[in-house]
Amino acid sequence: MIKHCLFPAAGYGTRFLPATKSMPKEMMPIVNKPLIEYGVDEAIQAGVKHMGIVTGRGKHALMDHFDKNYELEHQISGTKKEALLTDVRALIQSASYTYIRQNEMKGLGHAILTGKQLVGDNPFAVVLADDLCLNLGGDTVLKQMVELYNHYRCSIVAVQRVPETETHKYGVISGSKLESGLFRVDNMVEKPAPEEAPSNMAIIGRYILTPDIFEILENTQPGKGGEIQITDALLEQAKRGCVLAYEFEGERFDCGSVEGYIEATNYAYQHVYLGKPTESAEQGQETPVPA
Ligand code: UTP
Repeated sequence: MIKHCLFPAAGYGTRFLPATKSMPKEMMPIVNKPLIEYGVDEAIQAGVKHMGIVTGRGKHALMDHFDKNYELEHQISGTKKEALLTDVRALIQSASYTYIRQNEMKGLGHAILTGKQLVGDNPFAVVLADDLCLNLGGDTVLKQMVELYNHYRCSIVAVQRVPETETHKYGVISGSKLESGLFRVDNMVEKPAPEEAPSNMAIIGRYILTPDIFEILENTQPGKGGEIQITDALLEQAKRGCVLAYEFEGERFDCGSVEGYIEATNYAYQHVYLGKPTESAEQGQETPVPA
């Protein structure tokens, strides 16, 4: 079972400056909930009990969000507004939250390695909260991946097909098909130009990793952009054993970009906040979730 989840959240969020100058990108709201809360909720629905958040300078708001605010609670106690805190209170009660600081921004691989002390010698999930994944009326993306992990017992990356012109923004995989939507990875390239991309299957911000990844990361040299890339470590893991790539069910929004953030906000307002059925629900493929 996967009981631990790491949330690398130390990045500077430069694409969202000036909003992220003094506020963590992960605290930016999609309608009335910060991105990190969607990620934690997804992890809890996948059965995760221990949240490990990798933070950096200026990220105190993340810690405060998953803690009690006695003054505020006292102020709104007994009023209608109290209901607005119900969801986050439930998240606080259902999991433990620990934090570790990444002192230097040496990349996602380095952020995950920094979280080693929080997950120990256990398989664990990784959620990049700025990738918002929603699968309304169905299993969350992380839950889908945990179920696959329980069957295959190896590292799994979530992938999505992207236009050729966008491969340079992602780690891109190629692999052999195991079953519908599932591939055994044989190659991975970080942010390739379209002509160097091994396919159009891009890794998005959901991973399940087996703990041997830490030893590999410890020996991974800085790669593209001078950063320690999780893609390089995963390619090594794939060579040694098995890494799977999973084409998940659901919607994914790149909330690290302004366009993706606006798209996510519109979608969540309609289908989460107002509870309107999505197109596929209207066609009878899923049940809408009320706000
Ligand atoms: P991104 O590159 O998307 O995030 O990293 P960023 O650096 O914050 O954003 P921009 O490009 O400057 O706008 C993907 C994820 O990895 C985390 C980030 O916080 C984000 O969730 N990350 C990245 C770290 O925790 N540490 C790092 O050294 C790098």
